[in-house]
Amino acid sequence: MIIAVDGPAAAGKGTIARALARHFGYHFLDTGTLYRRVGLAVLKSAGDATEIARSLNDSPYDDAELRTEEVGAMASVVASIPAVRQALLAYQREFAGRAPGAVLDGRDIGTVVCPAAQVKIYVTASPEVRAKRRWEELKSLGMDAGFSTTLDEIRIRDERDSNRAVAPLLPAPDATIIDTSDMTIEAAVAAAVRVVELAA
Ligand code: DC
Repeated sequence: MIIAVDGPAAAGKGTIARALARHFGYHFLDTGTLYRRVGLAVLKSAGDATEIARSLNDSPYDDAELRTEEVGAMASVVASIPAVRQALLAYQREFAGRAPGAVLDGRDIGTVVCPAAQVKIYVTASPEVRAKRRWEELKSLGMDAGFSTTLDEIRIRDERDSNRAVAPLLPAPDATIIDTSDMTIEAAVAAAVRVVELAA
């Protein structure tokens, strides 16, 4: 069982994807972290993004440094390089095949990484709602950039992720869209669980 959860930044897809994995007992992969790791390494070393992507090991890795908006923006930049995407593809597909099932969240899981996924969910919300959530999240981490700066950053990232030539952010034709603008986390998770149950 493969569950693809795609959508723009700060729409709630990570929260929903994690909750689905827990609910159904499946593996979980936040594919944005892979691009963030490449982005962070580029910022630190100014090395070649494709070489860095090729040498990324698959050990679980997370770090507060990866969550900053600066790293998110650089992740979005390196993610527009086709060779970087190609270098990260095999690992994502291998992960998706793990038994008894896997939930992957990202931008292109339902369209490119796992076009045959049994369940595809596209999580979205208005840019203002997403900016507010991201702003609150950053504030809780001690990084307050201001609401309007956060909204500008969200818009720039949407624009870059949606308009790149390879694997742009786009709902798969067979994806179920969940707009979380006016939903609580609990309601959004419950809606996603129903989508999976209906497909099973
Ligand atoms: O989900 P996130 O904000 O952590 O992702 C950071 C960036 O990585 C995002 O702006 C675009 C890129 N990304 C991608 O191109 N494809 C994915 N499957 C996941 C993330």
